[in-house]
Amino acid sequence: MRLQKYMALCGVGSRRKSEDLIRQGRVYLNGKQVVEMGTLVDPRNDKVLLDQKQILIPVEDKIYILLNKPSGTITSVKDPQGRETVLDRIGWKGSRIYPVGRLDYETEGALILTNDGDFAFALTHPKYQVEKEYYCIVKGSPKSKAVNRLRQGVNIGDFVTSPAEIKYMGSKNGNAEFRLVIHEGKNRQVRRMFEAVGHPVLYLKRERIGSITLDKLKPGFWRYLSKEEIIELVDSIGGTYKNGSF
Ligand code: URA
Repeated sequence: MRLQKYMALCGVGSRRKSEDLIRQGRVYLNGKQVVEMGTLVDPRNDKVLLDQKQILIPVEDKIYILLNKPSGTITSVKDPQGRETVLDRIGWKGSRIYPVGRLDYETEGALILTNDGDFAFALTHPKYQVEKEYYCIVKGSPKSKAVNRLRQGVNIGDFVTSPAEIKYMGSKNGNAEFRLVIHEGKNRQVRRMFEAVGHPVLYLKRERIGSITLDKLKPGFWRYLSKEEIIELVDSIGGTYKNGSF
């Protein structure tokens, strides 16, 4: 990139101001004073000095947020239909962050928002097998044959799910409660799994993503993930957390 653009990204001032500084002979590139205006810089390898001090592009602070998404909020940064988005819900005014994966409009529960692209990629990539745990209430009382089909993997139309952990938790007003752990994140996966065995989901909540649990976080509320939580999550998928980033 051009030197004046690099200088502007380092926070020295506008490109015009950076050009003035170059003209004044105050800028050195790899030990040589720069006089040419169109000089190119490789930000990873070149060393730029202004008034004998090295200038660097600041590393963007990484942000990791856990939201307990309430039902009736859309997992998106913007909604053309004007519905409340998860960003509206947390009232975020800072730098660009986005949700990792998605929960349906009606689904509640754990949703991570971040500006760390590598972290978001790893959390959603099937290779890393991050567990997602859901609590759900489904219509009627599935027989053990239906539950076993879910356990072994079921055809949901365009996809056969991997084996899932599934535990019957009890019944509520003639409907059944389950806890389900899956690794995949296909669109409406849990709903489609139960539909495939004839028991539509009536209520769905994601309670855990890997080692991150909601604990006492109420629907509609959010908090920052602690450094320990991020390290544990990254570690559990075989990555390393360095300098505030995956
Ligand atoms: N599975 C679903 O069906 N919906 C969600 O929101 C998440 C997982």
